[in-house]
Amino acid sequence: MTLLTPYTFRNSGLTSVNRIALAPMTNQQSNEDGTLSNDEYNWLMRRAVGGFGIIITCAAHVSKDGQGWPGELGIFDDSHLSGLQRLAQGIHQYQSLAIVQIFHGGARSPFDVSGSQPWSASAHIIQVGSKNIDVAEGSVEQIESTINAFVASAKRAHEAGFDGIELHGAHGYLLHQFLSSVTNKRSDEWGGSFEKRSKLIRTILQKIKTSLPSNFIVGVRLSPEDKYTFQGIDFDESLALAALLSDDGADYIHVSPWDALKKPEKYSEGEKALITYFRDIIPAKTAVIVAGEIWSREDGEKAISLGADIVALGKGAIGMPDWPKLIKDPNFVPIKPPYSVSHLKDARLTPKFIDYMKRWKGFVKE
Ligand SMILES: Cc1cc2nc3c(=O)[nH]c(=O)nc-3n(C[C@H](O)[C@H](O)[C@H](O)COP(=O)(O)O)c2cc1C
Repeated sequence: MTLLTPYTFRNSGLTSVNRIALAPMTNQQSNEDGTLSNDEYNWLMRRAVGGFGIIITCAAHVSKDGQGWPGELGIFDDSHLSGLQRLAQGIHQYQSLAIVQIFHGGARSPFDVSGSQPWSASAHIIQVGSKNIDVAEGSVEQIESTINAFVASAKRAHEAGFDGIELHGAHGYLLHQFLSSVTNKRSDEWGGSFEKRSKLIRTILQKIKTSLPSNFIVGVRLSPEDKYTFQGIDFDESLALAALLSDDGADYIHVSPWDALKKPEKYSEGEKALITYFRDIIPAKTAVIVAGEIWSREDGEKAISLGADIVALGKGAIGMPDWPKLIKDPNFVPIKPPYSVSHLKDARLTPKFIDYMKRWKGFVKE
């Protein structure tokens, strides 16, 4: 079994032509009202042409109050439907599976973008750039309406013809904020113990699973441990959560450790890779996806040998849109950043997206 072997999702029966996914990547190219733009379409389509078996879109907000940045894809209104339909159809033309990542920014949905007061599990202050932003504690009504918004968005993705959705439970956004013992200090049913902190993401998953046919893929992305400034995630809790989500019917768990081959910080003295811990606890019926610093075919095959069923490429897929085809050549040598502007233009990035990529240190050649 290699990266180029097809993978069939056990619950849904859908097959990816290989074990290579495009990782979800925000590119700020959607129209102001959240509808799909031609630029976003072209960028994703180029990766479908390049042979990625699964195309996962950037994070798309499930409600206006969950929008995190300008130019973000929306999935909260029927006005988004026709663009989403076009995207799903386009991706299917090239035999890739189409998945849309759905999310709510929570504390990280600033007022000037979302038009409302940012809220999270608990009230706290976050620093964005040089600004301190007051975040309010979400009311039970806000939590309930957000659950409904996630379910409605998943239904909209299904109606648009997508093969599935991915719940964004990683990288410090709302679902992650509820999971964290630092940002979730609630004392009601939505916070406190691990079970209560996990309730929001599990409830959303369960409701989506019961609202849609079993051949619709529902995956969940998780940050397995603390990273950067976002704290409050314990590695053992993440493993326990992955197993519970699998019981709840998750078709895949997408682990986002930023380095697919690393060891967990908590057990860094041991021999076992982080992704192997997940494979060992997650039943075989649920796929394991991992992303982070996969550049060569060897990197990808190593991740598979450590227990991943599928690998997802982020930065490598930006610079090498034909990666799944290129790795068939035994002499393939990955082209790594920094990439020149003309290289990125050839890879179907617009000046706007290239500008955005300048925020990623060392990615765009000066
Ligand atoms: C430009 C850019 C945008 C990203 N946007 C998202 C996103 O919308 N949702 C998400 O879950 N991860 C996002 N990520 C993280 C990637 O999906 C991926 O996990 C990460 O880049 C590590 O993989 P890589 O080393 O192959 O880039 C983004 C990464 C990049 C580089």
